[in-house]
Amino acid sequence: MFQNVDFCAPSTHDNPYEMYDYFLEHEPIYFDEKNEVWEVFRYDDVVAIERDTETFINSEGVRPNIPGDPAMIYQDGEQHNKQRALVSSAFTPRQMRKMEHRAREIAVELVDTMLQMSEVDIVRDLAAPLPLRLISDMLGTPEEKRESVRQWISTMIQGGNGPDYVTDEVNDSFDEFIMLHEEMHAARLAAGCTGSDILTIWMNAEINREKLDESQLLFEHLLLNTGGAETTRNAIAGGLERLANAPEQYNALYDNPDLIPNAVEEILRWVTPFVNMYRTAARDYELHGKVIKAGQQVGLTYPAANRDPRKYSDPHKFDVFRDFTKEAKHLAFGLGPHFCLGASLARLEIRLSLEEMTKRVKRIRIPEDKEVEYLSSSFIRGLKTFPAILDPR
Ligand code: HEM
Repeated sequence: MFQNVDFCAPSTHDNPYEMYDYFLEHEPIYFDEKNEVWEVFRYDDVVAIERDTETFINSEGVRPNIPGDPAMIYQDGEQHNKQRALVSSAFTPRQMRKMEHRAREIAVELVDTMLQMSEVDIVRDLAAPLPLRLISDMLGTPEEKRESVRQWISTMIQGGNGPDYVTDEVNDSFDEFIMLHEEMHAARLAAGCTGSDILTIWMNAEINREKLDESQLLFEHLLLNTGGAETTRNAIAGGLERLANAPEQYNALYDNPDLIPNAVEEILRWVTPFVNMYRTAARDYELHGKVIKAGQQVGLTYPAANRDPRKYSDPHKFDVFRDFTKEAKHLAFGLGPHFCLGASLARLEIRLSLEEMTKRVKRIRIPEDKEVEYLSSSFIRGLKTFPAILDPR
């Protein structure tokens, strides 16, 4: 039924669930002839590939037909462990508990500001600025550059769709980011590298008694900005959009805030902000009668796996009561050694958004003459704009 599918084309992933259902059921592994990459869909297949790090490696790239760079996500084995360990202590659940007070202050301020407005854009006014401010604080990004960073990263991430999408605009945004990185780097050197922000941590760090080189610093810095700002935004906005359309579930979160952490997991499953990550086979690997040859790439289609009927009852139903102790844990953050470094931060940001919204806002309404606009991308899923009228409690 679905033939010659171009999995790198952004439009392929606009309203993709009928297509994902087809592949989940009939063709669990598919060779995309145009891009010469494999795609898998089922939950168990994504898990098996993520776990088999001897066979499936990251160092040949995690985007289709795009080579890797020196950031941790493109490293394997020991090198990956070492790069990740340099900053992992900044993202532990314990560290997040320390950040909660500051994060809540930001969430409260953003929701209060929205309540003064007759009409808001939940992406622009809450979902984008909350994660942006927090990751910018952690990285020590100058205040006046934060909005530009957000715009550059939003442009650059479209380059992750595939080589055809690495446009001049993407390259220009990358150049702008490099200039900012160099300014931030120089400012820290001038100050004697005494700060506690993550860029300074990297600058002071050593792996095998050697400092990180220029390009490791640049690409780690870029990766944290990308992870920090682009994904959580879509989970917050996408989750609130679902709840705007399911007022009984929204009210249930107000009546019983203890449900909110479960709602966060359901939002992550439902939205699944990353469409996929790719791996490269280091040896031939047989799956459902097809062979992924050594050197070929395979895409892990997370939003399909997160609605695999083998794992979830009524998978297309958004249900904040879904019992994740009886059903599988979602794969929105991936799995294995590359499991999302920022998962605790993302969970905190989504939870606080839900807590502060349900406390102060009785109902989220989408104005009759407006529509939510969705992003079109084969890398990230989410909303461009979310116009809304907020009824205060
Ligand atoms: C809802 C929000 C988020 C989602 C859905 C998400 C999803 C993911 C996924 C799917 C991966 C790849 C996992 C794999 O290959 O198995 C990943 C890796 C990563 N994420 Fe996130 N992420 C989110 C938020 C964040 C935040 C807030 C940060 C940082 C501030 C972050 C930083 C990273 C980093 C650094 C990696 C690479 C980890 C490694 O290679 O060891 N992410 N994320």
